Amino acid sequence: MTYILGIETSCDETAAAVLAFGASGRARVLSNIVSSQIKIHQRYQGVVPEIAAREHVLNIIPVVNEALKTAGINQKKIAAIAVTVGPGLITSLISGAETVRSLAYAWDKAIVPVNHIAGHLAAVFISQPKAKFPAVALTVSGGHTNLVYLSDYNKYKLIGETLDDAAGEAFDKAAKMLGIGYPGGPAVSRLAKSCSDQELKAKALNLPRPMLSKGNFDFSFSGLKTALLYQLQKDKQFKKHIPVYCRELQQAIIDVLISKTIKAAKAKKAKTVILCGGVSANPELRRQLADRLATEKTKFLVPDMEYTTDNAAMIAMAGYYLYKQKKVISWRKLKTSSSLEL
Ligand code: KG4
Ligand code: ZN
Repeated sequence: MTYILGIETSCDETAAAVLAFGASGRARVLSNIVSSQIKIHQRYQGVVPEIAAREHVLNIIPVVNEALKTAGINQKKIAAIAVTVGPGLITSLISGAETVRSLAYAWDKAIVPVNHIAGHLAAVFISQPKAKFPAVALTVSGGHTNLVYLSDYNKYKLIGETLDDAAGEAFDKAAKMLGIGYPGGPAVSRLAKSCSDQELKAKALNLPRPMLSKGNFDFSFSGLKTALLYQLQKDKQFKKHIPVYCRELQQAIIDVLISKTIKAAKAKKAKTVILCGGVSANPELRRQLADRLATEKTKFLVPDMEYTTDNAAMIAMAGYYLYKQKKVISWRKLKTSSSLEL
């Protein structure tokens, strides 16, 4: 049995997980601990980097201890420590990485540096270890919106990305304008459910679907955010119609994400389409993309809910593939980068 300890601190979740792998390479999640700072950042309606880093420093040792205790093992059994080294908030990344550097030195362990987006991609293989390739993945979070071509579990190429805001950021910024709280995605998605088809039609907001007609696989969400702002400024009564704004905004984002993903899947002759990242927790996006793909031969994979938003099980999963390829380093070589590329 190979045990991988995963650690994730790239944004505002302090997370540690232990995964066990047998000869088949199938993952067993022995623990998956996430200490969320959402309550602290809610006051500011967004993540405050310095506060996030201070919280990581306080939480990381208890979270790692809890992950080992829940897994029922001690550090001696760990083969390697997988840690997120970027992209993300640099102060948050450093808090996790420096703890891992010390642990690796004290415990005499190898380190597996993991790209956060590779972690989101690997999340889907935790419970669905058999995928057909090539695959096209939409990784959609608060910090990134990418289309990725995968020729194997751990072999990928970026084929499209957002030119400005990420889709999750569009949810978060819109929620701030609407005054409905942080993080925006879950708030928008909850309120959108209470808007009827009739109401949506009657209000005819018609927010733009940016980049739909462009032939490439890139995205842009900042224009959508501005269009929403103008509509809200014109509508003095908008507070009475929050659900309809939420539903239209959510649908505009979903329309663009799905259209580009299908286009990429067709162009790349994908056998599998993967949806992952924090925004993949959105039930409407999951349902509508599954419906669109139901008529195609393409298989649709999406992570279990607990592995959609930031967690360390996905980092341990991505770390295991790298560990098998011997892509490990010593504590001396560990480096972080806020803009690390896939
Ligand atoms: O992957 P993640 O936890 O962190 C980053 O790597 O950024 O993603 C967080 C993002 C936030 O923007 C949040 O609003 C969004 O995922 N999100 C959602 C939902 N749950 C989280 N967006 C839409 N619908 C949701 N249900
Ligand atoms: Zn993430």
